[in-house]
Amino acid sequence: MLADRNAYVPGSEIRKIYNMVIGRTDVFDMTVGIPDFDTPQHIKEAAKQAIDDGYTRYTHNAGLIEVREALAQKIKRDNGIDSDPVTEIMCTAGGMGALVLANMVVINPGDEVIYPDPGFVSHYAHIKLAQGIPVPIQLKKENRFGFTAEELEQVITDKTKMLVLNSPNNPTGGIIPNRELKRIADVCIEHDIYVLSDEAYEKFRYDTEKPLFIGSLPGMKERTVSLFSLSKTYAMTGWRIGACVGPREIIGAMTKLQEHIIAMPTTISQKAAQAAVSGPQDCVEDMLQTFKKRREIITKGLNAIEGVELEPPGGAFYVFPDVSAYGMKSYDLVLKILKDTSVVTVHGSAFGKFGEGFLRLCYAVSTQRIEEALSRLDSYLPKLL
Ligand SMILES: Cc1ncc(COP(=O)(O)O)c(C=O)c1O
Repeated sequence: MLADRNAYVPGSEIRKIYNMVIGRTDVFDMTVGIPDFDTPQHIKEAAKQAIDDGYTRYTHNAGLIEVREALAQKIKRDNGIDSDPVTEIMCTAGGMGALVLANMVVINPGDEVIYPDPGFVSHYAHIKLAQGIPVPIQLKKENRFGFTAEELEQVITDKTKMLVLNSPNNPTGGIIPNRELKRIADVCIEHDIYVLSDEAYEKFRYDTEKPLFIGSLPGMKERTVSLFSLSKTYAMTGWRIGACVGPREIIGAMTKLQEHIIAMPTTISQKAAQAAVSGPQDCVEDMLQTFKKRREIITKGLNAIEGVELEPPGGAFYVFPDVSAYGMKSYDLVLKILKDTSVVTVHGSAFGKFGEGFLRLCYAVSTQRIEEALSRLDSYLPKLL
């Protein structure tokens, strides 16, 4: 009875694990990327004020103009991209809203879209939803989970329409170095392909290189949609607010489509986003420093376990250790670990075929939980060898 797309758009494998343990207080959950911090107080105050000030009605489908202006300033300041807030910026329902709309307006049935594998589960789903053909580009452990311009050229065909980029990457924490990013941009220009640059983890970087954003490179603005998420940067996962910048034809088409789906993101979240991007940024710096410490603890702890191999991730708040030494499918390993230690991890294969042999652990949880999980894994995993 249901439409065909229900069969070809897969559900999230992360949620499959998460839903197994949801509501259980006896487990050490390291599955979903939800920062354990509360939304900063000044952002919450702005939302309360928005309700009192009557921001309770429909707005422009791209969002309130003052919010888009604040976003344009943020995007110039942090990402080096100049934009017109009237035509080149829109507010979306999380980064997810931008991802799905961009695919729907750019991709025709049969167009090929290159996406990172292992990668964020929805990238694949959105390409399928738009009836595009997903073409994985492998993020290799030996490349610190980045990819090169040469590897990109190998998967480009005359049907390639778009490249999805995500650096820092979920689930691996991999970052594409600036030098390589410039070479990748040149390849995209040469082959005339669009880029959908998922900057959800833009602020969470531990390498020292000053970040460079592909949408700011010469010749890229006209072919790049860059999307930003307030979810991770300001601990606002439940507010469902994000934004994107891109060429006016694409943003115009996305805005038109957004009208038919959600009209626009919640006004209260829009005003909260305005406060977030234009207010003090020390809350972000504090979170970054906390993640940095946790990253060190988890990297050291996992590498000390016999059979586990992990390169310190360059960004985001996930680790993606190689657990192939245990000789079983990552899904089976996740279930065994859950049953015997109550630590909840996600199988690498949830993130694509090249994720097999790995696990993902999210360290946006308390240091105490990380330490307890590490101690349980340390007493358990070597027995499986
Ligand atoms: C890489 C990546 N992009 C986008 C999203 C979507 O985030 P949101 O819709 O909450 O902004 C996520 C969420 O986990 C993510 O990991």
